[in-house]
Amino acid sequence: MSDFTNPSMPPESPELYSAVAGPIGRPPGAERRIPAMPEVAGHDVKDLVQRFGSPMCVFDEPKLRSAYQRMISCFRAGWEDSYIGVSVKTNYLSAVVATFRSEGAWGEVVSGFEYRLCRDLGIPGNEILFNGPWKTDDDLRTAFKEGAKVNLDGDDELERVGRIAAEFEQAVAVGLRVNMKVNYPPWDKFGFGLENDHALEAARLIAQSPHLRLEGLHLHIGTYIPDPELYGRGMEALVQLGLRLERELDVEIKHLDLGGGYATRNTLHNTMLPGEAVCATPEEYAAAITAPLRRAANQFKSPPRLFLEPGRILVDEAATMITTVRAVKRIAGQQKAALVDCGVHILPTAYWYDHEIHPVEDYGHGVEDYKLVGPLCMQIDVLRQSVKLPALRAGDLLVIRDVGAYNFSQSMQFIYMRPTYVFAHAGGISVVREAEDDSVVRNQEQLPQHLINQETQNSILNRG
Ligand SMILES: Cc1ncc(COP(=O)(O)O)c(C=O)c1O
Repeated sequence: MSDFTNPSMPPESPELYSAVAGPIGRPPGAERRIPAMPEVAGHDVKDLVQRFGSPMCVFDEPKLRSAYQRMISCFRAGWEDSYIGVSVKTNYLSAVVATFRSEGAWGEVVSGFEYRLCRDLGIPGNEILFNGPWKTDDDLRTAFKEGAKVNLDGDDELERVGRIAAEFEQAVAVGLRVNMKVNYPPWDKFGFGLENDHALEAARLIAQSPHLRLEGLHLHIGTYIPDPELYGRGMEALVQLGLRLERELDVEIKHLDLGGGYATRNTLHNTMLPGEAVCATPEEYAAAITAPLRRAANQFKSPPRLFLEPGRILVDEAATMITTVRAVKRIAGQQKAALVDCGVHILPTAYWYDHEIHPVEDYGHGVEDYKLVGPLCMQIDVLRQSVKLPALRAGDLLVIRDVGAYNFSQSMQFIYMRPTYVFAHAGGISVVREAEDDSVVRNQEQLPQHLINQETQNSILNRG
């Protein structure tokens, strides 16, 4: 229960109940007959499946490009010196990162793996924003050598970075990740707290170090944040902190980084309205974030550069999963289960979202209520607890929309391997990741000598 007598306790998010029927469902609009989607990114779905198998994932390259162009242009309209470091962990398919790079994007990384991926795709170190709660010494050395913008996450890292920086002839530039109470629950696993002056203390330590130079402040308030006002408040607080540091310490804040988290049209579980109705536009986010910066611009030693680290808002809506119904079963109550060949191992966002799912053909049959389940031998492999679709039969194709963010990078080869990923572009279709075979799991393995016997001798494990 919320404690309304204690103003320091934020209220819990409200749950809506109708007196007789339990949680209130979505309004009737959300229950409409979902139209058939015979094409994805201008290509016939049946042809795609014939060529690349099922399941498969299609990226619409022009959509990736237009999402980037819209985001950067509305931020630059509010603050000209704005740059986007695309969140690589949101989707680290090389083709996705390379597409954004060809539009001029920088990279935002949280590991040495992502850093090297950016470098391999031609992003210079000094156009990489390096975040994350754990960075290895070697990755930090490379990042400093190549001029990446490294944001420090905590006291131990600050101390470690001080030691590494002493190996360099000149002072090394660093940024500080700050956390603050702008949303609930606060995103406080990362960075230095604002309200308890932890960030101020860290900035003082950096200013006293002969090996370090504080150049930036970073804030990422959370992920899937539909309210631009929260970004506005975060930016205002970051600006005030930056001005205070410039006044009180001998530092110049050259960049402010507002992170990512901008919501998409996907609908979270147990929410009343569809995501489309609640998420803000890039223009609204840009207006909220750039206004505090414009107001304070002249008070800085020189106006800082603005970095953004969007992920899902750039990639989510550009990707579609195609899947085949493999079986239809009757389950308890009135519901049927439709078993498809796409499971949560390649669609982990099904744990958070009610993805929009379309039939590829609509034969005009009555609409039925299905529990949509995947092929994994696990009870939790459920894509939708309840979805209304025209009566399904084994062999029917379905299209799952807006799956570009976090599905590939969080996927795993559990029970079934990952499928083919393709890019649709002006020149046609290109495979950007081939379907995996058993070797993806087994190639790394070795059988100890004492387990090799007559029965195992044909195993690929005996190759060596
Ligand atoms: C530091 C940082 N920047 C950017 C992002 C991208 O977030 P999103 O994909 O929600 O935009 C994340 C993801 O959590 C993050 O941790």
